Amino acid sequence: MEAILLVGGLGTRMRPLTDNLPKPLLPVAGVPLIEHQIVRAREAGVDHVVLATSFRAAAFTDVVGDGARLGVRVSYAEEDEPLGTGGAIRNAAAKLESAPGDPVLVFNGDIIDGHDIAGQVAWHVSEGADVTLYLTRVDDPRAYGCVPTDEAGRVTAFHEKMPQPVTDQINAGCYVFGRSVIDEIPAGRVVSVERETFPEMLNAGRTLLGHVESVYWRDLGTPDAYVRGSADVVRGLVDAPARPGPAGEFLVSPDADVSPRAVLLGGTSVAPAAIVHEDAEVDGAVVLGGAVIGVGAVVRNSAIGRGAQIGDSAVLDRVVVGDDVKVGAGAIPEVGARLT
Ligand code: GDD
Ligand code: MG
Repeated sequence: MEAILLVGGLGTRMRPLTDNLPKPLLPVAGVPLIEHQIVRAREAGVDHVVLATSFRAAAFTDVVGDGARLGVRVSYAEEDEPLGTGGAIRNAAAKLESAPGDPVLVFNGDIIDGHDIAGQVAWHVSEGADVTLYLTRVDDPRAYGCVPTDEAGRVTAFHEKMPQPVTDQINAGCYVFGRSVIDEIPAGRVVSVERETFPEMLNAGRTLLGHVESVYWRDLGTPDAYVRGSADVVRGLVDAPARPGPAGEFLVSPDADVSPRAVLLGGTSVAPAAIVHEDAEVDGAVVLGGAVIGVGAVVRNSAIGRGAQIGDSAVLDRVVVGDDVKVGAGAIPEVGARLT
């Protein structure tokens, strides 16, 4: 089976973490976010992945290469200008090898979840649907695609980012498309599947099914969600076959240097070449490559950028520290601050 991974977004809400690295390549529990998705897709039967890139396309080839390391074949479909989700899928179709009747998986590139991908595909195939959308329920649906279904599981409407949602059931960002349905998307222009393709298909009476599953699901599109998502993967709250070690309170790269007198907890991950000095307490945080946490510093629910330096006894809560930024000794930035 083939899959398209949508990884061309700007990651604007993630700044400054995405200043130097696209969002789908940010490390989650020690490996790039999309490696979790690719390995889960592989376990569901995917052997060929097309990465639909636009923004910083070369960064993906550097990290993912031909996919051999991940046990799949990876091809690249680059957009000169971002074509939107639908335009990206259409553009990626040029690299697909599937026949017209075959199911093709499409993933948003910023999701960590544990849903039954193979089950979603099987239902799509057995019903002969045009598109089968994975749906989940969230407390606040306003930031997502709101997707009501009928008793038979057929999608009845698609409302992208509705201020007053009609249901708490949302688009969870993984679709099964019939190959021929992808070929119907107009080529060479910006298309949003959420705002254009799905509503038009519903108007035309096509069969869109909603595969609803209430398992672990998170869009890592904001720094808070990213930090939480990574910690959840470290702690094993979601099945993650690409996690580089057993689930636990922390995950430390063998190439990091953590003092035996430092305290790591809450799903903290520490990347290669990072240093955590004695008496530091790092709780539910992501410490990226080469970052340094000073003596006695307290870092909670925060993301520390590559090469950033956190001074001795500084206290950070829900802070995002950009790459190479220095936070002074004893500093206490505002909760939720983004330091660039
Ligand atoms: N190649 C390419 N080109 N990829 C794109 C483009 C583009 O022009 N625009 C967005 N993407 C990719 C992003 O990189 C991301 O992986 C995915 O498409 C979704 O874009 P986001 O920017 O993360 O969208 P969102 O989170 O606001 O909303 C989407 O995801 C929600 C679930 O997390 C929508 O699909 C919602 O309906 C959905 O509920
Ligand atoms: Mg998103």
